[in-house]
Amino acid sequence: MKKRNQVVSRSGRFESGPGADVAAFSESVSFDWRLWQQDITGSMAHAAMLHKIGILTQSELQAIVSGLERIGSEIAAGDFEWKPELEDVHMNIEATLTKRVPAGAKLHTARSRNDQVALDMRMWVRDEIVHLLGELRELQRSLVGLGEKHPDVLIPGYTHLQRAQPVFLAHHLLAYVEMLGRDSDRFQDAFVRVNICPLGSGAIAGSTIPLDREFVAQELGFVDGHGRAQLTQNSMDAVSDRDYVVEFCAAAALLAVHLSRLSEDLILWASSEFQFIKIEDTYTTGSSLMPQKKNPDIAELTRGKSGRVIGNLVSLLTLLKGLPMTYNRDLQEDKERLFDTADTVRACVRLMGAMLQHTHPVEENCRKASSDPALLATDLADYLVRRGLPFRKAHHAVGAIVALAEKQNKTLKQLTIDEYQSVEKLFSDDVMDCLELKKAMAQRNFTGAPGPREVKKQLARWSKQLKE
Ligand code: ARG
Repeated sequence: MKKRNQVVSRSGRFESGPGADVAAFSESVSFDWRLWQQDITGSMAHAAMLHKIGILTQSELQAIVSGLERIGSEIAAGDFEWKPELEDVHMNIEATLTKRVPAGAKLHTARSRNDQVALDMRMWVRDEIVHLLGELRELQRSLVGLGEKHPDVLIPGYTHLQRAQPVFLAHHLLAYVEMLGRDSDRFQDAFVRVNICPLGSGAIAGSTIPLDREFVAQELGFVDGHGRAQLTQNSMDAVSDRDYVVEFCAAAALLAVHLSRLSEDLILWASSEFQFIKIEDTYTTGSSLMPQKKNPDIAELTRGKSGRVIGNLVSLLTLLKGLPMTYNRDLQEDKERLFDTADTVRACVRLMGAMLQHTHPVEENCRKASSDPALLATDLADYLVRRGLPFRKAHHAVGAIVALAEKQNKTLKQLTIDEYQSVEKLFSDDVMDCLELKKAMAQRNFTGAPGPREVKKQLARWSKQLKE
């Protein structure tokens, strides 16, 4: 008996197809169509394997492959009609193929949508990681490039958003290069676990057909550094595992947090209060009301978008935590979280990199802000330490010097040597050398320190590494 709102008939045990409301509620093709390339490539490899083990004849294989190729070019050209009533990308492609090519009906032998969807997703994540890694390097290059263009610009480094000690702008930028380097490492590490072939797991329990899983894995590039096929080892795990999606989204969330922090620094630096940088007009926007405004929207949006990337990770973890083994339809909800995460972080990385190429330090303001001798108070304490005073006592003495200068409304440089000695006898004439910014910076010279030699070394190291 057919229901009136029925949209598609199902064969076999079903007397009627799902109602239109059910189909609309459960379809995923409106978003998982994005897996089409992976789906077609995966189906071709599966068909080649079915031929190898004698399920498909040579001409059936050829018919299937050219049928899939035709579908692929139609999709690429925007000429393919996606039907929501066919639920997802997998059924849409297979149904169209089978309508055109009778052998298409054999394609789903020993395969389930459950392992097919796992396969397609793994291939999709793999591709995204490769693209993202390239884009991350581009962003790192922009940061290093900005540092290299202005190697002598000093700014105050901050703790508690209070001026702390002078640092080279390049040193500050390189901090983000380090963070992004760890992000890249995390994505590369995740890649190893993404790059494992689930096909052959069937719906949950494999198949009685003697599949050649190694062949499929090799065909699809699921191999380690030695070219050995990488296969999932448990069919139940393989169809329900979404760890690789979580890992990708977790690495992306941390990346988004890094980008958000960088954005915050740039927003502060671009403010009238700081005025350390100018962002070119093309990467800023105006206000509809206030004619004087120039807003750092790219950085603000990047900071804002980190929220949804973090949200996507939390959604995924929440989605997974209560699922009984194995595949449950809930898992269909993973895709939009994954797609949105990848789209968002990739766009942020690209835009941030481009914006930095159009960002310039306002050297005069940076110089003014970093030349306050108070930023070298710690150097004075080190001076006393070199003369044998325990650091705690040195810290106390310099604190008293700072208080004295404040009381007299002078900078540390304007105090006389007598005044220094009135606080601590160990001070002598050469103390003023400590307050020479250039000399002071040159003292900071071991690995990781912000001295000019070290910063130049780090710039050179990264720029070499990013060239390859
Ligand atoms: N559209 C589904 C998803 O994205 C495909 C798998 C459906 N499997 C099933 N047994 N209904 O998860």
